[in-house]
Amino acid sequence: MSDETSSQHQVCIAGTGSYLPERVLTNADLEKIVETSDEWIFSRTGIRERRIAAEGEFTSHMASKAGAKALEQAGITADQVELIIVATITPDTLTPATACYVQQQLGAFGAVAFDISAACSGFLYAMKLAKRLISDGAFSNALIIGAEKLSTFINWEDRNTCVLFGDGAGAAVLRRAAPEEGSILATEMGTDGRLCHLIQIPGGGSALPITPENIGQHLASLTMMGKEVFKHAVNRMKESAEKVIERAGLKPEDIALVVPHQANLRIIDAIAERLSVPPERVFVNLQKYGNTSAAAVAIALDEANRSGAIKRGEHVVMVVFGAGLTWAAAAVRW
Ligand code: ACO
Repeated sequence: MSDETSSQHQVCIAGTGSYLPERVLTNADLEKIVETSDEWIFSRTGIRERRIAAEGEFTSHMASKAGAKALEQAGITADQVELIIVATITPDTLTPATACYVQQQLGAFGAVAFDISAACSGFLYAMKLAKRLISDGAFSNALIIGAEKLSTFINWEDRNTCVLFGDGAGAAVLRRAAPEEGSILATEMGTDGRLCHLIQIPGGGSALPITPENIGQHLASLTMMGKEVFKHAVNRMKESAEKVIERAGLKPEDIALVVPHQANLRIIDAIAERLSVPPERVFVNLQKYGNTSAAAVAIALDEANRSGAIKRGEHVVMVVFGAGLTWAAAAVRW
């Protein structure tokens, strides 16, 4: 689905924030849990370690901490926030939405708050939605957050998945932009529900409730057909990045930084090569955090922003891919 026809207001990213839980789980730690090795994990994925939320630390807590940092950077107080969208597949509760807990924790009681579920693509889905709602005049600002506590939904006996994922949250504040400020130039998103089965948390919903009989079967854990996902990820991310680059009127050499979903370094390298962007202009932090699903691109954007890897006036392209299958991209003048 493409975008941007009748925009009345330009929309900028006014602030970013992120939060990672303190506990570090290294590849060496995982060697003690399942039959794996640092060599296998690092050579197949690029991941060295990931963060794991503390007991009693929920998705909403991480989301609120990331959100508070983004608000602070944007110079917006909680009571001024008009819209909160949390992208997550690991909500605190099935209902109410995690965004409602975030509204409560931040004291952002004037905000409309809801969640979206688009797996690793959720943060850019939220960005497109919020951008459109602001540009159409429905809201003047939005706090968008990608937050996940995947450690709850991992089968720690399954080496195919448990080495890949981590917990964390990233956030951005979007608001109407003044003419001299940067703006979100183009966004793109897509879905292919025919491939639902490739990445799933099959149990715990209405289709397959957890019962005393099936409780030992890890049905509320993430399953993934990694090789299939890999192929689709590369193709879809390349296509959607190309679309936003073209629609923004850019060429590969105009892009200061690509901030991709942080799932696998081999996927990231393949996309950079196909987009003709050299590796030094691609932001990578998955070695520290693993795949944090909806949080990953948001955390990466915040780290790129705060480390000075993106400067005002430069062009950034974000591109993501996840369960659904879903994919999305955004081109931004910072
Ligand atoms: N340690 C050691 N061996 C392992 C491990 C492990 N942790 N995990 C799997 N293996 C074994 C398997 O059992 C298999 O052995 P077999 O061939 O004897 O059956 C073999 O390693 C599989 O190896 P490869 O086929 O070489 O694995 P591959 O190169 O495909 O890498 C990976 C696997 C990392 C999962 C990769 O396919 C991948 O990253 N896929 C994409 C994932 C992704 O992008 N997800 C994004 C969305 S996630 C979301 O939306 C929540």
